Order: sequence, then structure tokens, then C-alpha cells
Amino acid sequence: MTPGVRPLVAGNWKMNGLSASLAEIKAMREAVDAGKAGAAELAVCPPATLLAQAAWTLKGGKVSLGGQDCHAKESGAYTGDIAASMIKDAGAQYVIVGHSERRQYHGETDAAVKAKAEAGLKAGLVAIVCVGETRTEREAGKAIEVVSTQVRGSLPASGGPDTVVVAYEPIWAIGTGLTPTPADVAEVHAAIRRLLGEIYGAAGAKVRILYGGSVKPANAKELLGLANVDGALVGGASLKAVDFLAIAATYL
Ligand code: 13P
Repeated sequence: MTPGVRPLVAGNWKMNGLSASLAEIKAMREAVDAGKAGAAELAVCPPATLLAQAAWTLKGGKVSLGGQDCHAKESGAYTGDIAASMIKDAGAQYVIVGHSERRQYHGETDAAVKAKAEAGLKAGLVAIVCVGETRTEREAGKAIEVVSTQVRGSLPASGGPDTVVVAYEPIWAIGTGLTPTPADVAEVHAAIRRLLGEIYGAAGAKVRILYGGSVKPANAKELLGLANVDGALVGGASLKAVDFLAIAATYL
């Protein structure tokens, strides 16, 4: 946790969710609006097909909405892609960029991620920029170096607490049930915090740094209580309101 920073617990649904899943989003809204979910801001990032319907479900409430990716260009002949302005127009406030699954399966480079983040900001969205090392990189003692390169290369040139969130997601911890030790998480988050200061100056002190990778109700307290950990980016455990809310309850 960072003093004076409201934590963010964001759910990344990835390629999961049909219209029936809106019931989970409704349950999240009801709990949050009833004040049962704790002090953190909650955001849900369903697939693009559900954004507009989710926005209706969340309208007037306290749960935020995000997309999972955007194109770097404002519009044009890019079949199948979605512009940041479209995500905003659908009713979202956030967009995730540079998730390791995008980097891995779609060959997204740091420069591409940065362009997407900047497109997000230009459209009025807050960019959640993901970084994280592979298992091989961690075992070679290169986690800090790899993450630092990603942070330097992927973050928008100008930004601050109201426009940028960084998510540290060690790739080997995603969907595996494995998590780094608290000391390892704290070490990487401290390094990201220092870099945020270099990039954004004093404003970098309040940019939220989320941890992601096998966050569950059972391990949330240990991970989210660490210095410079300002919330979580949750995959699998965000699909069910009951689990997602149990993670958010860390901040009750
Ligand atoms: P899991 O919580 O399923 O490990 O996924 C983490 C993640 O990739 C969130 O973006």
C-alpha cells in the first residue's frame, strides 16, 4: 500500500464471458454500491463484446469498467481491431495494454504498448500498463532488469496518478497458482516506484502499481499489504463476483 493512494482491484476476464456473465457484474455492483466491498476501487474488464452491456449494468454505480486492449490508431482500416475511443464510447474508464498474453501471442513490443497506452490517454481512458518477466528471466536473476526495460519502454511519455496504472504480472505466476515471495514482489514494486519517479517526477509517487498473477482470496492479504502494492490485477478469480469481492475485502 502507498499512503494516500486509493487501491485498485481490477478484474481481467480475458477471453471469457457471455451475456449470462453480466449477472456477475451486477452482483459486483450491488455489493460495492452497498458499501460491502471495502475501500478499494473495483474495476472489471470484460471482453469487448460485453463492454456496452456491462456499462449499462454499472451505470450510476461505483464499479469501474475497462477494455483489455486497444489499437494505437484512432480509426482506420484495421479489421477486427478496436480503437481506444470506441472503448471509451462504450462506457469504459480504463484500458489494459501490454498484457503478457498480448505481448506473447500478438508480438506486441514495448514501443507498440506505449503507442496503445498513449492512444488510451488521448481517448480519455486510464491505461493499465502490464509488465513482467518470464520464469527463465527470473531464474537468471534478470527480473528487475527486464521489468525496468519494459517500464521505460511501455509507459506513456506524460502521465500521472489519474492517467496511468502499472501492473506487475510475472508471466510464470499467471494462471499457474504460483506467486513470487512477498520479498520478491516488494523488490520489483520498489524498482517500479523508483522508475516512475524518474519518468513522471513527483507525480510518480502516487501512480498505482498493481500486482497480478494467481491472486486469490487466500493470498490477497499477504500480497496486497506490501509496500508499493496498490491493488491487484486479477484473472481467473475475477470471473465470479464472490471470489473477486473476497479479494477486494482485503481492504475492508
Ligand atoms: P490469474 O489471476 O488468472 O493468474 O491471471 C492474472 C492476469 O493475467 C491478470 O491480467
